[in-house]
Amino acid sequence: MRKPIIAGNWKMNKTLDEAVAFVRDIRHALQQISTVDSVLCPPFVALPAVAEALQATRIGVGAQNMHYEASGAYTGECAPNMLAPFCQYVILGHSERRATFCETDEGVNKKIKAALAHNLTPIVCVGESLDQNEAGQTHDFVSGQVRAAFAGLSAAQAARCIIAYEPIWAIGTGKSASAADAGRIIGLTVRGTMADLYGEETAQAVRIQYGGSANAKNIGEYMQHPDIDGALVGGASLKPEFVEMIQSTAAVKG
Ligand code: 13P
Repeated sequence: MRKPIIAGNWKMNKTLDEAVAFVRDIRHALQQISTVDSVLCPPFVALPAVAEALQATRIGVGAQNMHYEASGAYTGECAPNMLAPFCQYVILGHSERRATFCETDEGVNKKIKAALAHNLTPIVCVGESLDQNEAGQTHDFVSGQVRAAFAGLSAAQAARCIIAYEPIWAIGTGKSASAADAGRIIGLTVRGTMADLYGEETAQAVRIQYGGSANAKNIGEYMQHPDIDGALVGGASLKPEFVEMIQSTAAVKG
């Protein structure tokens, strides 16, 4: 059985004060839920304070990005060893980083290896654009992203990763993928590609989330799908609604 995992990607939202106040508001409710892993991914500057506010709780902390080098002349970047004291997870290859910050499959692959080397659990994002979806290219494109992300990784390393399937057209649009469609891509394309690469046992061990306009209203439908192991949540993770999503997940899958 894969333990469900709901992660909140705050993106570029919440000041330090807002971040700490929000975490203090929701931590007690989240601490009550042991059957779902919950993770908060604030902006870099809030990581130490959020980690401190969540100390001695079961709630995880994640970064939203990371450089693959340990140090050097990389203005504006953060290294894995700088993040490791404050987090257990790191989101890698989010479509916004691929589109706006020119991240490549090759760079994402290097970041996954660096994260694992520092005992950070990568949340590896994949997903097709609207054009690709409409042209019937979803399977080939997403499968290619998975293959590129995991190039050179062993089965043991792959099993330590989480994958988030986030169709780009569903992110921040209110136009979520149906649970049936998301479950089909996750099962056949993402898990299917992992099975091709590593065999069925590893593929069955990897947790795969859905992301894209997930909220308290629709989370139950996604969680009822046996191949969807949780969600990577943007907008709804900034609000108390996020607690409801984790409670609903526990009710369905717990
Ligand atoms: P929304 O939930 O706001 O659509 O964002 C999804 C996302 O990109 C999470 O990483």
